[in-house]
Amino acid sequence: MKLSCCSVFCCSGTVSPYAKGMLDARISQDQIGSVYDRLSSIYDIWGNLAESRARHRAIELAEIEDGQRIVEVAVGTGLAFNEIVKRNPNGRNTGIDLSAGMLEKAKNRLKKLSGVHYDLTIGTAFDLPVETGCADLLVNNYMFDLIPYDDMDRVLAEFRRVLKSGGRLILVNMTVGESLPSRLYDFVYRLSPKTMGGCRGVRLADKLKQHGFTVEVREYHQQMLFPSEVILAHKAR
Ligand SMILES: C[S@@+](CC[C@H](N)C(=O)[O-])C[C@H]1O[C@@H](n2cnc3c(N)ncnc32)[C@H](O)[C@@H]1O
Repeated sequence: MKLSCCSVFCCSGTVSPYAKGMLDARISQDQIGSVYDRLSSIYDIWGNLAESRARHRAIELAEIEDGQRIVEVAVGTGLAFNEIVKRNPNGRNTGIDLSAGMLEKAKNRLKKLSGVHYDLTIGTAFDLPVETGCADLLVNNYMFDLIPYDDMDRVLAEFRRVLKSGGRLILVNMTVGESLPSRLYDFVYRLSPKTMGGCRGVRLADKLKQHGFTVEVREYHQQMLFPSEVILAHKAR
């Protein structure tokens, strides 16, 4: 865990993420692609058992209208993307992920849909292969819990770049548990980050505000004791 000068107060004087109960990422981004290639065959079991309610709520909050330009970053096996594309068959839907294995699963899921428009592309959240100011909606589920705290600003700046003025941002993250049992997962992460697929609890609402997003909703959900936050924000006009 990086503590350096940030034990409780950062050099800037703001409260450090560690004081808010957040751990830092311990699997480097260079390793994430191969970690998720290996997890791709079993990921949906976890995704359905512990994350489905938060993902479902995120789709509700997105209020998708057919014809929109939608980008999902870290699309994974396409659990949310499938629902997005069904609701936006005549729009343009792009799913991006680092892991070829996860994308392969998403392609298999999406090929069952007909009369829809989408593309699934390998890429990174740090440098999205998407035009500036094009997206009505950007969705990003369970990725910031893998991103080192100090790198989150770069990703949020990239999300801002891609969104239209007034565009909507939906984020779902593993978050810091609000009950003692729900902190079990961060406890497992401390012992073995790979057992948690590299995910630890994070809170993104404050960072979003720092990046000029207006946070409209931040909800806490718990499923199988697994703590998630669901955030709806928009890029200020
Ligand atoms: C925990 S899975 C979540 C997958 C999917 N969003 C879901 O909710 O089912 C994390 C995903 O984030 C992807 N990922 C991690 N860092 C990324 C980055 N910098 N750019 C794009 N994808 C990334 C991983 O490859 C993996 O597919």
